[in-house]
Amino acid sequence: MSGFSFGFSTDDVENFDKSDSTSGANKQLQWFPAKELTFDSDPLLPSSYLHSRGSVQLEIANSEEVLKLVSENENSCAKAADSVHSDLVPAFYEGGLKIWECTDDLLDFISRPIFKEKLQNSKVLDLGCGSGAIGIYCLLSGASEVHFQDYNEEVLKFYTRPNVTLNLFGDNVTDKVKYFAGDWSSFADLMKNYKYDFIFTSETIYSQECYPKLLKIFKNHLNDSGEIYLGAKTYYFGVGGGTRLFESALEKEATLKSEQVWKCDEGLHREILRITKAITSLGS
Ligand SMILES: C[S@@+](CC[C@H](N)C(=O)[O-])C[C@H]1O[C@@H](n2cnc3c(N)ncnc32)[C@H](O)[C@@H]1O
Repeated sequence: MSGFSFGFSTDDVENFDKSDSTSGANKQLQWFPAKELTFDSDPLLPSSYLHSRGSVQLEIANSEEVLKLVSENENSCAKAADSVHSDLVPAFYEGGLKIWECTDDLLDFISRPIFKEKLQNSKVLDLGCGSGAIGIYCLLSGASEVHFQDYNEEVLKFYTRPNVTLNLFGDNVTDKVKYFAGDWSSFADLMKNYKYDFIFTSETIYSQECYPKLLKIFKNHLNDSGEIYLGAKTYYFGVGGGTRLFESALEKEATLKSEQVWKCDEGLHREILRITKAITSLGS
C-alpha cells in the first residue's frame, strides 16, 4: 500500500462510492450503519513494535503487516484506498489503519499526572479509534470501560483488537471492552442514553460534512461532568476541515463549550481542544 497522503479527489473514489446514480460533487455518500462487533475467537496477532510517546509505551501491530492481511480480501477498505493512492475513500475507508500524529499528542497530554486519578474507574469512548492507542492507554490507567469506535470493521478486527490483546495480554478485559463499527450518526442512535466520562478523538474533524454527526455524539453521550479531548490539525489541506471550523460549528450548540488546551505551531499546526457541557442559565 502506498503512503498515506490525506489528499483525495471525489473523482478518485468513483469506483468505491456506494452512492446512487447521481454523479460528481452532488453524489450522496451512503455510510455503513453502526453495529457492535462481537468475536468468538482470539485475534490474529501480527508482529508488533514498541510505540513510545513521552512516558507512554504501547505495543502496536505493524501497520504494513495489518494492511497486507486486510488486503487479502478483494473488497477490503485497504485495497480501495491503495488503488486510489489515498488514505481516505469517503464513506468506504476513513484512514484507521495507522497511527496519526494527533494520537501521539493526545497520548502525551493524557499521560500528565492529573489524568492518573481522573481515568480511574472512568467510562471512555475512543471515537474514530484506529489503532486504539488512546483507549488502550486508558485501560492501562484504570478505566472501567472502554468503547472502541471506528468506521471500518476491518480496522477494529485486524488492528484495534490485536493491539488491545498485545497490551493487556493476560488481563481479562473482555467485560470492560466493546467494539463498534459504522457511521457516527447511527452510532449516536445505537448507544441510546449511554454516557461517557471521557470521549477522546484524534484526527476526526477533517470533513465538515461530519461535524453534525460528531456534535450529536458529543451532546448526547457525555456525562454532565464529562470531558471531551479532541486532537486535530488547525487546517486539513485538501479536505478543508480544521479546528477553527469545528469551533464555529460547536459555538452554535448552546450546550457545549470548548477551549484550546494545547497547541504546536511547528510544521502542520496541531491542537488539542477540551470540550465540556456549558452551564446554561437553566443550569443544564
Ligand atoms: C484519520 S483516521 C484517525 C485514526 C486515529 N484516531 C488516529 O489518530 O490515529 C480518522 C478516523 O475517524 C473515523 N471516522 C471518520 N469519519 C467517520 C464517520 N463518519 N463515522 C465513523 N467514524 C468515522 C474513522 O474510524 C477513522 O479511523
